[in-house]
Amino acid sequence: KTSLDIAVIGGDGIGPEVVAEGLKVLEAAAGDVKMSTTEYDLGAARWHRTGETLPASVVEELKGHDGILLGAIGDPTVPSGVLERGVLLPLRFAMDHYVNLRPAKLYPGVASPLDVARVAPNGIDFVVVREGTEGPYVGNGGALRVDTPHEIATEVSVNTRYGVERVVRDAFARAQVRPRKHLTLVHKHNVLVHAGHLWRRTVEAVGAEFPDVEVAYQHVDAATIFMATDPGRFDVIVTDNLFGDIITDIAAAIAGGIGLAASGNINPSGENPSMFEPVHGSAPDIAGQGKADPTAAILSVSMLLAHLGRDEAAARIDAAVAADLAERGSGARSTSQVGDAITARL
Ligand code: IPM
Ligand code: MN
Repeated sequence: KTSLDIAVIGGDGIGPEVVAEGLKVLEAAAGDVKMSTTEYDLGAARWHRTGETLPASVVEELKGHDGILLGAIGDPTVPSGVLERGVLLPLRFAMDHYVNLRPAKLYPGVASPLDVARVAPNGIDFVVVREGTEGPYVGNGGALRVDTPHEIATEVSVNTRYGVERVVRDAFARAQVRPRKHLTLVHKHNVLVHAGHLWRRTVEAVGAEFPDVEVAYQHVDAATIFMATDPGRFDVIVTDNLFGDIITDIAAAIAGGIGLAASGNINPSGENPSMFEPVHGSAPDIAGQGKADPTAAILSVSMLLAHLGRDEAAARIDAAVAADLAERGSGARSTSQVGDAITARL
């Protein structure tokens, strides 16, 4: 295919600002690939105006694109959960984005809150394969006797053999093509015995197909210790939706901050478009001030291009970002200044 058709959802807060910079970079990196973009208005503004979150007709239209670029969803003027459960998660579920891919790489010149020379002398470079369609995110649960002293709330984590096996296989395949060929399962099977042992047995079984990949296991609490004290031990991590949500925020923090963390919500079959978004949220406190770092959105564009087989364009973006990061001083630049500087290097 010589032309790419990208759906763009700026969303809430700083989402539209950082996505605008991502689009500049996408244009500049595209080269002779013809690119068309269509904007979709989803998020707080639409909800206030129409009461809609994610209309079925929009899902159908989105499915007709090659990829989706998303800024952020979530706004304090909307009750917590309405947009998250109404827009972002339904998008991931509708598109069957079962691989939520979140790289954590500390680029040269980027400051980490860790004493990297001591705790990670060989650098930080791992990727979390977070399951994206199951776990406690599916909304399986309920509340009884709400707002009484006897209130009971349940959130039941759903883990299917089918869902676990496909994401585990994807993680093994990613580990196999990385130099270290190492996979860590992160769970909590000492307490969550039903789901935990399903994951453990699945990793063991699928591992037989990947004899050259070395496998490790860590309880999620211990994994957070190692993220802070020995992050170099990680190569590929596979974990469920909620553990993956939590550890990828720590991963972002140690690898230079949430302003740099990119992600892909991937449907590996290619049946539906995959969706790329910065890990950070809508940051309403700094929205509209040109303060947000667009780097995570720009790196998300690179992941989008790589996913669509445009590896060369993706590599050029990564190199431009790396060069910009290496020369970034402490001087504050605006969102668009960062975007322009990276674009200029392409
Ligand atoms: C993320 C976010 C979302 C999640 C929220 C906004 C629903 O925290 O992408 O990590 O929990 O997946
Ligand atoms: Mn999160």
